[in-house]
Amino acid sequence: MRWGVFSDVHSNCEALAVVLEHFQQEKVDGYICCGDVTGYGAEPDKAIEMLSVLPNLCCVRGNHDLAVLGRMDISWFNDMAAAAVGYAQTTIKPQNLRWLQDLPPRVDKEAFTMVHGSPRNAAEEYLVTVQQFHDNYPHFRISPCFIGHSHLPLCFLMKEPVSYVEFGTLKEGSNIRSPRGMRSVINPGSVGQPRDHDHRASCGIYDDEARAFQLRRIEYDVAEAQRKILDAGLPEFLALRLAYGQ
Ligand SMILES: [Fe+2]
Ligand SMILES: [Fe+2]
Repeated sequence: MRWGVFSDVHSNCEALAVVLEHFQQEKVDGYICCGDVTGYGAEPDKAIEMLSVLPNLCCVRGNHDLAVLGRMDISWFNDMAAAAVGYAQTTIKPQNLRWLQDLPPRVDKEAFTMVHGSPRNAAEEYLVTVQQFHDNYPHFRISPCFIGHSHLPLCFLMKEPVSYVEFGTLKEGSNIRSPRGMRSVINPGSVGQPRDHDHRASCGIYDDEARAFQLRRIEYDVAEAQRKILDAGLPEFLALRLAYGQ
């Protein structure tokens, strides 16, 4: 199967629309969404409604989704993130809250594993170092393990028995092969709030027969997403950062 892989939509439906259109052009058979559907952006309801109709969607919950559900302590969220959580909580439709509630923390399939943060701490760990990759090694069996949360397109590869680790950031068109006998963690970056200084929506295509992943970057209407954030009365910085990919 060919999978559209993405994460951290964060209620940015301008970016989500172009990513889903790209996946449809690529004729994917299913979708892997690594959480944080909500938070930060202006359209949490619409983001859920766009995702919930997708065929063969595997989606896990992120820390922002848990915050919107009132199931995470947000005292460590910054003021802007907390404001967006409050906005989502006051505007979201009950049926969309139920959709969020039903998301699992983790999915283990024959072809891949998926979590939001890391295999050992699904909601909260930012897996960004080789040491963390090592430490998470006992916590998943099936590779690749797709993650999100850091908003950075990254991969970690390790041959078994343990020999060496390859680590790298992923750019547009980067190809990762994860043959059997290789442990791998892949982060497709963020659809709705990239933080690698590239404003374009980030996502990838995974072919589970070829065991090959390719990163894609896609332009979208940033100005429109910014306008919606400001119109919703959300903090200005949440709009500004989209233009810089931060
Ligand atoms: Fe996120
Ligand atoms: Fe997150």
